[in-house]
Parts: sequence; C-alpha cells; structure tokens
Amino acid sequence: MCRACCLATLDRARLRCLRSICPCKQARSWGAAFAPAQPMKALTYRAPSTMKVATKPDPRIEHPNDIVLRVTRSAICGSDLHLYHGLVPDTRVGSTFGHEFAGVVEEVGPEVTSLQRGDRVVVPFNIACGTCFFCQRELTGLCDNSNPSSDMVGGVYGYSHTTGGFDGGQAEYVRVPYADVGPMKIPGDMHEEDVLFLSDILPTGYQAAEMGGISEGDTVCVFGAGPVGLMTMQSAWLMGAGRVIAVDHLDYRLEFARRFANVETLDFDQEGRVDVVGRLKTLTDGRGPDICIDAVGCEASGSFMQKALGLAMLQAGAATVIDWSINAVRKGGTVVLIGVYGPPWNLVPMGTAMNKGLTIRAGQCNVKRYMPHLLEHIRNGRITPKAIISHRVALEDGPDAYRIFARKQDECIKCVLVPQAA
Ligand SMILES: NC(=O)c1ccc[n+]([C@@H]2O[C@H](COP(=O)([O-])OP(=O)(O)OC[C@H]3O[C@@H](n4cnc5c(N)ncnc54)[C@H](O)[C@@H]3O)[C@@H](O)[C@H]2O)c1
Ligand SMILES: [Zn+2]
Ligand SMILES: [Zn+2]
Repeated sequence: MCRACCLATLDRARLRCLRSICPCKQARSWGAAFAPAQPMKALTYRAPSTMKVATKPDPRIEHPNDIVLRVTRSAICGSDLHLYHGLVPDTRVGSTFGHEFAGVVEEVGPEVTSLQRGDRVVVPFNIACGTCFFCQRELTGLCDNSNPSSDMVGGVYGYSHTTGGFDGGQAEYVRVPYADVGPMKIPGDMHEEDVLFLSDILPTGYQAAEMGGISEGDTVCVFGAGPVGLMTMQSAWLMGAGRVIAVDHLDYRLEFARRFANVETLDFDQEGRVDVVGRLKTLTDGRGPDICIDAVGCEASGSFMQKALGLAMLQAGAATVIDWSINAVRKGGTVVLIGVYGPPWNLVPMGTAMNKGLTIRAGQCNVKRYMPHLLEHIRNGRITPKAIISHRVALEDGPDAYRIFARKQDECIKCVLVPQAA
C-alpha cells in the first residue's frame, strides 16, 4: 500500500489502511509508505530580497483528490516580487514560491478520476474546489473552500499564508489539490512553454481587457509593459480596440511592447517626470482614454509619496497608477485594476471617480474559465505568450533570476525556471 493511499484511507475510515490491497493501484511497498520523505530541491524565501535553493521533503498526497506533479517549467511572476520584497503579510521563511507551473503527473490520489501518472498538465494559480458557491459561478479565484481562513481570496500556490499557505511550484515537485478541477492536460503536439502562461498571466491579461468592456474602436491605455501588461495589450486588440497605448518607464520594455503588441507608447520618466494624465489627454483629443488598465499594482514608481507610504505599509502599496487611471480616463470610462494590492486602504481619488461616473472593476483572475478559449488563441497564433520569455534558468540559479527580474536587469521580461527533475 502506498503512503498516499494509506493516508487517504486513514482519513476516511480509521485503520482500514491495514488491509492488504492498495486501492490506488500504484502501490509502493509498506516500507515506502512509512519511509521518511525523499528530499527535493525548492526555491525558498529567507528574508526580503533573499531566496535560497533548499532541500525539502518531497510533497506527498495528503488528500484523495491530490496529485503530485514533477515540475518541468515554473515561471516567476510580478506577483512573486511583492512576496520577495516582503510586502505580503504572513510570508513565512522557508516557504516555496511559484504559482505558474506545468509538469508531469507523478502520483495520483485514489479519488482523482481525470488524470493518470505520466499526464502532462498546466495548472491555474488559483486553487479551487469546483463545487462551492463561487466555483459554481466560475469565480475560481474566490473559492470558499481552498482558503477558509479568508473571506477575501481563495487559495493560491506559493503565495503566503494569507492565501492558504500552500507550497508553490518553484521546486522539483509540487502537491496539487483538487486535481480534477484545476489542471488542464497539455495537448500532445504542444510544448509546456506554449501553454505555461495559461496558468496565470495570459488569462489575467485577457480578463483585464474583458473587464474593460472594450467596444469597437475604443482607446485602451495599459499601465505597465510587463508580462501582464503585454498579455492585456494583445487581448485588447482581439476585443476590438482601436488604439492601445502602453505606459511604462523602462525603455527596453516599451520597445518590446511596440514590437510584440504593436502599441503606441508613453515613457513617464522621459526628460524628467512627465505629466502622465495631461499627456494621455492630449493624445486623446483632450477627453482621455475610454479604458485605463492598471497592470502594475502596489509597487508602482512615479510618485515618491505614494511609494513611501506603501513601503511603510501605511497603505496597501503605491496607488500611483490607480490615481493616474482615475484622473486620465474619460468621463464615464472604465478603470480596471488587475495589478495586485494588499487588503488595507489606499490614497485613491474616490470623489473624482464618483463624479466622473466611472466603472471600476478589479480582481484576481479566475484562470480556469479562460483556459480552453485561450488555448485556441495560442494555437492560432493570435496570442503569442511564449515570445515574452527572456530568461530560462536552472532551479539552482533561481535566486539570481529573482534578482535580475526584480531589478529589471539584462532586459528581463519573463524568467522561466527549468527544474533539474525535468
Ligand atoms: N490580478 C491577478 O490575477 C494578477 C495575476 C498576475 C499578476 N498580477 C499583478 O500584475 C502586476 C504586473 O505583473 P507583471 O508580471 O507584469 O510585473 P512586472 O514587475 O514585470 O511589470 C510591472 C511593470 O510596471 C512598470 N511600472 C512601474 N510603475 C509604473 C507606473 N507608475 N506606470 C506604468 N508602469 C509602471 C514597471 O516598470 C514594470 O515594467 C503585478 O502587480 C502582479 O502582482 C495580478
Ligand atoms: Zn502570477
Ligand atoms: Zn470553491
């Protein structure tokens, strides 16, 4: 009887595990069931701006609906940088980050019906039960069961104990709960890297554009030319935008955005600080863009006061882009917040938003609902997420990858870790 099956059985009917037949049909020896877990390598948090490759016990099946995945690709997300910088509460030393991963199924819990050992899957960053009030409405980012200690957000891999304390996929192996709900099988003719970003940034960018309610010919302004912003820009075109304007202050990223997503660009640091709101109005006949999308979040540059208050944790991160978006967008327009902010309050011009009659939409992406549709867009080349990978590194070099991505060195856009186990 394998340990997985043994524990699951113990869980459901005490001591039935003493029976000699292992229902999971992938039995290992009794010895293996009770042997100490094998060590694996994982990229772990030590302190703000410090990651370390550590040895941790192999994850195991803890519930009959779990699988254990051998990770073959695992990306570093802009959201990981908020953890890395120590800005997310209850980020514990030794925890493994990583919520954008794909891999091969290694172990299967006895009640998993849709996956088998050897299947290749890509996994949404949201951990979702599939049955609660929110999952039933495809709001898998808000699942009630995967993170019961919060009434704000569901479980997320590798994203602190505020999202459930699950270990993430920047490791050789990762445990995936509710395995019949989240993971999507990778089509045989596609490489992991073709679909890796279905785990997060592609659906996130797509949902951001969708929340903008883009009408044919609309002008969409996307703040942030990072991976999420780039996915938002390509999605905005698919939804009928007439103009897409990208705002950032990193030349190499704006240059990439022009090539990758065929957008107009605005550098907010050019020749001293630019009046971003004024410039956006000038570019749009004095009215402002129809839709402004914040793909930057709580670590925005551009305002010393906002940044200082954010770093001192006196507000949920720098609200610079929310401020610019509300002030720049046209009257009656839409502001979308897809960049991440923490729970507390922010210095946000709510009166302006109210008087301008704005629609404000926000949220974690509900990844699963977009996966099948976006897979088709990738297949047909309408969206090209793989093209944004700038760095591929071994897990051992993960700490360097974090440093490079955080400091935006070496023209970094997106880092993908390739664990040794691949
Ligand atoms: N809601 C979700 O489900 C979800 C999912 C994934 C990522 N995110 C969030 O999206 C945001 C972006 O992620 P990413 O991976 O693209 O990160 P990233 O760090 O690679 O990119 C952020 C970009 O914003 C730019 N920037 C900084 N200040 C700016 C400002 N004032 N105006 C315009 N641009 C500015 C930076 O120069 C950088 O290029 C993060 O906050 C991340 O946490 C949200
Ligand atoms: Zn992410
Ligand atoms: Zn649920």
